[in-house]
Amino acid sequence: MKIGIIGGTGYYKWKGEEMQIETSYGNVIVFYFKLHGRDVFFLPRHGKKHKPAHAVNYHANIEAMKNAGVEAIISINTVGSMKREIEPGSIFIPDDFIDFTKRKTTFYDDVAIHIDMSIPFCPVVRKVLVEEAKKKEEIYEGIYVATEGPRLETKAEIKMLSNFADVVGMTLVPEAILAREKEICYASICLVSNYAAGLQKSLDVEEIKRMTEEKKGTIIEIIEECIKNLPEKWDCVCKNAIEKGKL
Ligand code: HPA
Repeated sequence: MKIGIIGGTGYYKWKGEEMQIETSYGNVIVFYFKLHGRDVFFLPRHGKKHKPAHAVNYHANIEAMKNAGVEAIISINTVGSMKREIEPGSIFIPDDFIDFTKRKTTFYDDVAIHIDMSIPFCPVVRKVLVEEAKKKEEIYEGIYVATEGPRLETKAEIKMLSNFADVVGMTLVPEAILAREKEICYASICLVSNYAAGLQKSLDVEEIKRMTEEKKGTIIEIIEECIKNLPEKWDCVCKNAIEKGKL
């Protein structure tokens, strides 16, 4: 099985053979390498020119993974914590999400496809991620809320959102949705880089960058173990999402 990793620019450790993949949304750069006998494609989410989260070409990225033959994606996302107990530096593996973006979240404009998101992340990929992460340290699980950005949130927004979710970030949506629409298994491992607005006096992007630098080694190790331990084949909700979602 071919495996994809989508991550921020901080994860260029996975530089393999550079390839350009054509999609109907534009070309996408990926880095191909072999790990534990598996074909792996690392896709730097923000591209070469580092597009900000709201301007990332998510449709091109997910279509590129599909065109490369990827069947399972492990995504790395950076988030702010809305809960005092989830401290910066923690690892968070979401089991659900809420979409507060204003983004286009489908490949299907002309046919009525309503994919089921009751189990929003691939249960198999997610389980292996949780197991491997727990071998390294205590982790948190819960709900991710996606905001539009590029600005960070107001205190009032975080106060409201924290009633329904645990962490806030800008990159999981529409990625997770588009992956399901392409019937690609998808799960996310999040690095908590900061306390969200209102849980600390002010927020400096330097703080987010510093935490990414500090923790990226651990995230890389977890993902590499996950790639080693994923089964070769499995049945899950992701595989027949379109057939089940057709009107
Ligand atoms: N808010 C939104 N996105 C983020 C944050 C945050 O506090 N930290 C890292 N990504």
